[in-house]
Amino acid sequence: MYPAPFALERFFARHEFSAKYLLSSSDCEGFSQADLVAGADLESRRMWDHLRLGYTESAGLPALRDEIARTYGDVQPGQVFVAAPEECIFLAMNSLLEPGDHVVCTFPGYQSLYQLAFALGCDVSFWKPVEADGWRFDPKDLAAVLRPHTKLIVWNFPHNPTGALPTQEEFEAILAVAEASGATVFSDEMYRLLEPSPELRLPAAVDRIPRAISFAGMSKSFGMAGLRIGWIATKDREVLDRVAALKDYTTICSSAPSEVLALMALRSSERILEGHRGRLARNLTTAERFFAEQERAFSWVPPQAGTVCFPRLLVEDGAEAFCERVLRGTGVLLLPSTVYGYGDSHIRLGLGRDDFEEGTSRLAEYLAGGR
Ligand SMILES: Cc1ncc(COP(=O)(O)O)c(C=O)c1O
Repeated sequence: MYPAPFALERFFARHEFSAKYLLSSSDCEGFSQADLVAGADLESRRMWDHLRLGYTESAGLPALRDEIARTYGDVQPGQVFVAAPEECIFLAMNSLLEPGDHVVCTFPGYQSLYQLAFALGCDVSFWKPVEADGWRFDPKDLAAVLRPHTKLIVWNFPHNPTGALPTQEEFEAILAVAEASGATVFSDEMYRLLEPSPELRLPAAVDRIPRAISFAGMSKSFGMAGLRIGWIATKDREVLDRVAALKDYTTICSSAPSEVLALMALRSSERILEGHRGRLARNLTTAERFFAEQERAFSWVPPQAGTVCFPRLLVEDGAEAFCERVLRGTGVLLLPSTVYGYGDSHIRLGLGRDDFEEGTSRLAEYLAGGR
């Protein structure tokens, strides 16, 4: 199995560390290690000070699995498996799927959520949102693409790249459709906890349906992508066993320092998340102003949750050429929808970074120059 190149990751590999303003990143501003350690609880601080850099337990540091389990309503530590976020997707897809299986996935989306299924010889159908309806994912459209033997349904809410988030009622309908289908659900909850208010937060799929795998991690909501810590939580023992056996061929175990830092972060989660949500709210205000002033260049659906949004570009030359011109002219990095395989008319914008206002100002100046 050798999947097609991951277009978005290849794009970032070219530009992420040379562009001046990262206006399209999906993670929150990177959190400082010094602040994290300084604010840590006594026990994890002691673990940090006495850490030995040997191998760790393959399924994850027990204290970390305990802490992760506590973030759900009814999940035991033994139902949590820790790996790098992207690795979790890789392990899960390879553990669940066989050639010929039918898979449904939200689209556009994070490529590995469906590309690995293609590479494994599966038949993949897309569940697409309606842009004219605020990028709404209609439960009826999910029902329409299901087949009698669909093996896996993959969704991602809050959604990358549109910022869509079903309402509680819609999500109940989505869960009902999924459960009635008998398929396993892989629920990508990487942007969960970044809702503007707690009432909007959807339940984790693992707390609602028995055949669900909830997938989350430290990269986006916590601004700690450099830890490379993610996890899956599921009550399906067979999936946990298969994923564990496969991790012996990827990383064997996770990074010992990262696990302790992730533990510290989860134990201080409200303080950390509040900071990120505050920045997102401020940047959303900036975005509202920017798009109101730029209504001739973009049509915009504000994100309902998470860090990203997916405005439509109204200028002539297409998103890819536009992003290239903007990068050359201003140092502002935007992400064209071509990396999502979703036409050439949208760009992804990320609202999680400190320099969002500066980046949008540069972009506004550039557009004002008539370029
Ligand atoms: C929806 C979604 N899932 C998973 C991931 C993978 O996270 P990581 O890059 O930390 O491996 C990303 C990263 O952009 C994502 O947007």
